[in-house]
Amino acid sequence: MSRLKELRIYVDKKINKIEDVDKRISATAHLYGVSLAAQMLAKKRGLDPELAAMAGMLHDMYAYKTGSYEDHAHLGADLANTILGKLELTTTEETDIICSAIYHHDDKASVDSPMDELLKDADVLDHCFKDSSKPVKEKEQKRYDALCKELGL
Ligand SMILES: [Fe+2]
Ligand SMILES: [Fe+2]
Repeated sequence: MSRLKELRIYVDKKINKIEDVDKRISATAHLYGVSLAAQMLAKKRGLDPELAAMAGMLHDMYAYKTGSYEDHAHLGADLANTILGKLELTTTEETDIICSAIYHHDDKASVDSPMDELLKDADVLDHCFKDSSKPVKEKEQKRYDALCKELGL
C-alpha cells in the first residue's frame, strides 16, 4: 500500500468521527480536493507530488478535529507532526516539509518556501473551483489570478 493511501485511511477514520453529515462530507471533499490540486501543482512546479498530496490531506485536520479555525494552521502543523510521527511514513526531513507547508498555509498574503506556496495555492484552487459560480474571495483573488495565468486557465 502506498504511504499516501495509508495516510488517507488514517484521515478518513478521523474525519468519519464528525457527526454532522454535511460537515463530514465537506471536510472530506476539501482535503481530497486540496490533495489532488497539490499533486497537479507539484508536477507542474517540479516538486514532490507525494509530499504535496500528504500535506493536502493533513492541512485542515486541526480545524476539523476541534471545530475551530482559530490559529488552525500553526496548531495544525503540530498536529500533523504528531500524526506523521505516529504513522512513521515519512523521514524527519519530509515531515518538516509537510509541517512547514501546513504552518504557513493560512498566510496567503506572504510568500514562503516553494512547498509552502504550493499548499496555499492548492487550498485556493479548491476554494475557487469547488463552486466556480461563486465570486472569488478578495483575499484569494491575487493568488487565483496568478494560478489561472500559470495554468493557462
Ligand atoms: Fe486552512
Ligand atoms: Fe483548507
